[in-house]
Amino acid sequence: MKNIFVLGGSGFVGAHVCEKLVRQGWHVTVPTRRRSNARNVQPLPFVTVLDLDVHDEAALTQAMAGHDAVVNLVAILHGTPEAFQKVHVDLPQKIARACVASGVKQLVHVSALGVNGPQPEAAPSNYLRSKGQGEAVLVQAAGEGVGAAFGLTILRPSVIFGAEDQFLNLFAKLQKVFPVMPLAGSHARFQPVWVQDVALAVVRSLERNNASGPTPCVVEVCGPDIFTLKQLVQLSAQLAGVNEGRGRPVIPLPLWMGRMQALMLELAPGPTLMSRDNLDSMRTDNVATGLLPGLESLGIKAAALRPIAAEYLGR
Ligand SMILES: NC(=O)c1ccc[n+]([C@@H]2O[C@H](COP(=O)([O-])OP(=O)(O)OC[C@H]3O[C@@H](n4cnc5c(N)ncnc54)[C@H](OP(=O)(O)O)[C@@H]3O)[C@@H](O)[C@H]2O)c1
Repeated sequence: MKNIFVLGGSGFVGAHVCEKLVRQGWHVTVPTRRRSNARNVQPLPFVTVLDLDVHDEAALTQAMAGHDAVVNLVAILHGTPEAFQKVHVDLPQKIARACVASGVKQLVHVSALGVNGPQPEAAPSNYLRSKGQGEAVLVQAAGEGVGAAFGLTILRPSVIFGAEDQFLNLFAKLQKVFPVMPLAGSHARFQPVWVQDVALAVVRSLERNNASGPTPCVVEVCGPDIFTLKQLVQLSAQLAGVNEGRGRPVIPLPLWMGRMQALMLELAPGPTLMSRDNLDSMRTDNVATGLLPGLESLGIKAAALRPIAAEYLGR
């Protein structure tokens, strides 16, 4: 039996990763800031939930000891530059040092499509810049070839869909409430990938165990189809049957107006739905470059969005 330490195992992708890992008969440890956040994975057999401040390097190193591999799914979508630095750059650095100190030989790190690998600073948003810098610290810490400190796989997904997503579900919900959809970045392109395929990519990466093989290995994790943001908004309404499947008129906003809308959403009470940084991320297309291996390199045939989204949006 393998022992896998899954940071971010309580999240949207993490819960599916944990489920697939326990199906393999592997034991999974999920550190969490708050035990109640992990109630989705707590009932799974072979899952141990651990109260842990993952940013405390000594505690992290101690908790990771005895595991065969680590998966890192911790990320934030909104925040200050300092928060992005802490979660996307400093934490991977601590995880890498903890791998070396505790003898963990394999790390699967989930990053994001749109990072600029060779030049992380050139990415258009704090989110993408910090994600790219996080990749860079891991690549440096892992080292290359035979003398590598640990085998490193970096998975770069496009936007992820699935029954619990905060993406198609949100678009459908907004159109149930509002008569029109003012939309910034309506021409931005995405290649949505199913959450189950992302989770399977994590499992296959662990099975491949590149601890002694080529490292780092970077995989673009994308679905088979490309959509503009506007098409995704319209499709979500159609599949959810909003306005008898016709959805609402989508009104593309110019950039300055989109930024004002995002600022208002940042200042609004409750969870942030959209930020100016999210708009900045959409300045580059979120589609595979084709220059790196894709899901097929892990033996996965990516699922199409429409039939799966129809099932959960139509419920
Ligand atoms: N969802 C997408 O469409 C998408 C697209 C591209 C890439 N990705 C990447 O895929 C990975 C997983 O995404 P996801 O959608 O599953 O994320 P998620 O649902 O937001 O889960 C992230 C997890 O990280 C932990 N976390 C959040 N903020 C933290 C902080 N400040 N310090 C420590 N832990 C923190 C949380 O665990 P606790 O609350 O239990 O502590 C949470 O369960 C991320 O790397 C993300 O960037 C996602």
